[in-house]
Amino acid sequence: MYKILFFLLIPIITISQEISEPSLKKHSEFPIGTSIRFVEFMKDKKLKKLQKHHFDSYTAGNDMKMYQIVTREGNYNWARVDSIINYTTLNNQRLFGHTLIWHSATPKWVEKKAMSNPQWLEKFMKEYINKYVGRYKGKVDGWDVVNEGLNTKGSGFREESIWYKTMGKKYIEKAFKYAHKADPKAKLFYNDFNIERDTLKFNSMMKMIEDFLERDVPISGIGFQMHIRMDIPNEIIEYTLKRAASTGLQIHLSEVDIIFNSHDDSKGGGIQTYNNLTTEMLNEQAIKYEELVNIYKKTVPKSQQYGITFWGFNDRDTWINRFFKIKDWPCIYDEKLNPKPAFYGFLNGLKN
Ligand code: XIL
Repeated sequence: MYKILFFLLIPIITISQEISEPSLKKHSEFPIGTSIRFVEFMKDKKLKKLQKHHFDSYTAGNDMKMYQIVTREGNYNWARVDSIINYTTLNNQRLFGHTLIWHSATPKWVEKKAMSNPQWLEKFMKEYINKYVGRYKGKVDGWDVVNEGLNTKGSGFREESIWYKTMGKKYIEKAFKYAHKADPKAKLFYNDFNIERDTLKFNSMMKMIEDFLERDVPISGIGFQMHIRMDIPNEIIEYTLKRAASTGLQIHLSEVDIIFNSHDDSKGGGIQTYNNLTTEMLNEQAIKYEELVNIYKKTVPKSQQYGITFWGFNDRDTWINRFFKIKDWPCIYDEKLNPKPAFYGFLNGLKN
């Protein structure tokens, strides 16, 4: 009797675990990705199901950053990246490497050593990129070679970065050259935030990129992190994406999320205006997600659409609340891993 009941229940249990919402990747002409923190991810069955169902591009949350790879001088830790590659290969997903050179992910020991021995930093950069990109040659499709090399606001480079302080602005093109040498086929991106809305910052980036293109610095793409707010005008996003695409480079929306509240781009710097999420807000967010996809499709020619990647696709795992110390709901899935209106907005955008 119990046996019969058990066998009758199996299909019910299985069905209730199926994902009923349509797959994003199946409705998209370009790759769809999300960043995800690997260790937590491997332990979470539901997250795994959703990830496999929707995404064909994988970006590590923090697992591929420099402080994870070289914890101490001469001590390279490849184990986790190896596991990530096993996962993406097995599941037929594109692996995107985030990120090689970023001031925020540079380990303390590197900063310290560079301060007392500036010549050493360039040697280290060369060795690091060569080892890292070389090891995963042909396995990592593209890299954010340099992340956030420009000032947080307005024009100019991020001069307080140890890389800039030690090597000058040339550190950026050097990183691209080393990466290209280590894997000539890998797509190499410059990635930054607020470039879709801060036109001074955007102009600085364009100046740098146009100069790279003129001098054959091996760059393949521009990553717009696209951590936006509900009130960022579509017109400005449209303008910057279109101009960026006019370079002929690949365009990646690399870290998409859309918040209601605001942040000043520094850790803990959030301003909480909305404490509760209303139906109206959910619907407005759905429209904003749909419009963002439409703008991407309209302004970026097909051959340059590297894809759209979320920086975490659900409100439970989002970095926003922890990092900016606010309560917000920036993603297409909610805290219980159910699809929000934003999910259907995004999907509509893909289908249009
Ligand atoms: C964030 C991570 O999500 C956090 O866990 C970490 O504390 C800080 O970095 N731009 C980037 C990402 O390029 O690497 C950042 O990720 C989010 C902003």
